Amino acid sequence: MDLVLPPRTRDMPATQWLRESIRGEILAGRLRPGTRVPSTRELAIQFDLSRGTVVDAIEQLGFEGYLEGVVGSGTFVTTSLPDELLQLKPLPGHVQAQTSPPRRRLSNFARRAQPYMMFDPRVPRAFRTNLPALSLFPTELWTQVTARRLRRAPATLFLGCETFGYRPLRSTICDYLCNSRGVSCTPDQVVITSGIQESLDLVTRVFVNPGETVYMEEPGYPGAAQVFEAAGAALKRSPVDNEGLEIPPGGFHDGSLIYITPGHQFPLGVTMSIRRRLELLDSASRSNCLILEDDYDSEFRYSGHPVPSLQGLDQRGIVLFGGSFSKMLFPSIRVGFLVVPSDLVDRVEAVKSLTNRYAPVIDQAILNDFIAEGHFGRHIRRMRQVYGERLSVLLDLAQKELAGELEVSPVQAGLQTVGWIKSRFNSTRLAKEAEQRNIELSPLSRYGTSEYLRKGISMGFASIEPTEIRRGIKELAAIVEKLRTGRR
Ligand SMILES: Cc1ncc(COP(=O)(O)O)c(C=O)c1O
Repeated sequence: MDLVLPPRTRDMPATQWLRESIRGEILAGRLRPGTRVPSTRELAIQFDLSRGTVVDAIEQLGFEGYLEGVVGSGTFVTTSLPDELLQLKPLPGHVQAQTSPPRRRLSNFARRAQPYMMFDPRVPRAFRTNLPALSLFPTELWTQVTARRLRRAPATLFLGCETFGYRPLRSTICDYLCNSRGVSCTPDQVVITSGIQESLDLVTRVFVNPGETVYMEEPGYPGAAQVFEAAGAALKRSPVDNEGLEIPPGGFHDGSLIYITPGHQFPLGVTMSIRRRLELLDSASRSNCLILEDDYDSEFRYSGHPVPSLQGLDQRGIVLFGGSFSKMLFPSIRVGFLVVPSDLVDRVEAVKSLTNRYAPVIDQAILNDFIAEGHFGRHIRRMRQVYGERLSVLLDLAQKELAGELEVSPVQAGLQTVGWIKSRFNSTRLAKEAEQRNIELSPLSRYGTSEYLRKGISMGFASIEPTEIRRGIKELAAIVEKLRTGRR
């Protein structure tokens, strides 16, 4: 790469200018330790200097300890620059780093936005939530599909795609949703997003003005709540019973957005009953509301009859359906989809085109091949079995070792379940003690404010191997005993 250096003043000799400028860049931290500097020949051409002038400057910087030569590779900024050197004042002509940042004018949106971070770089341990079994992902197959796709890629694959995404993937996802999730749609209604988080943002931009009402479950998914709050929505939380979201006694506020997770309620794990689904659709349509159905992990169902999606039951076009490959494959893929009613396609397209234009096309093409060649279906079936077995191990062990103290719910779907504490201590205390023994528990109080949540913890099982589940339960039994009896 070319070096960017401050302009040379007329009265400064060329060697001195080059030496001081490069030194200044290093001291200011713009040329970082380990960076390769261009060769003397390249520098001479770039700055229109004689080779001898450049060689002198570079040699001098070498003597001073700023640059070092590596035989056969070139010249580099010294990797171990002493701290005193880096703290020296920049040379004249360089902008002095400001000590306090200037006062910034922020948008109302930016002022309201709170960060929502889910990424945890540590190796999953008992009982990490929201994660599929990454070690069981067929990486070898994915590599083959990727290599084949790139070898056979037509030039148009590098050109781009429509705002709603790579058309073959939209068709493939449409078929999958119609067959497996009971969704009714055409490929024209399917938008490829970078996961449900983008779908939430997109739906909020299209439908929610500041001050307007958005309903969601209590407890519910914070990643959604924070999007609605950042948009300035008036958030109303409705409790969840064993049939799913309760419909507010007076019905919904006219024209609101209702965000729900009916397949596997986040975080309680309840599957919304058919009766409640029909009541919800009826009540929402009477109040001219739109529903966003978040189907983040309900592909993994272990018991009970598959329940058709809310979108598939909807005859009036009031449900948007959001899904994601974060749980079905792996989270870093960052590919999801949103199904929108046909009459809203234009508006959603206009808004999406202004944000990230379209999802990365090559990733979409690889994913499409992976699904179309049958690998996706096989992986889901295999994982459903593995996760089902892991859930059974968790339930059996919890029953044996924790009975009466921590009751673990037998969920029908998803990657995690909930444990309810029967003793006097609360879940925050339990999670703190568990952390000391290298166990992760998510207190339900993170997801809502209701008093009863203080007794609940979210427990993941899908990404945890049975030996680790065993260790986790043994440790939990010891912690529970300690907290119950107050013994050290
Ligand atoms: C309920 C729920 N919705 C949405 C998401 C976000 O999914 P994505 O990774 O597709 O953005 C998550 C992530 O864990 C989730 O738990």
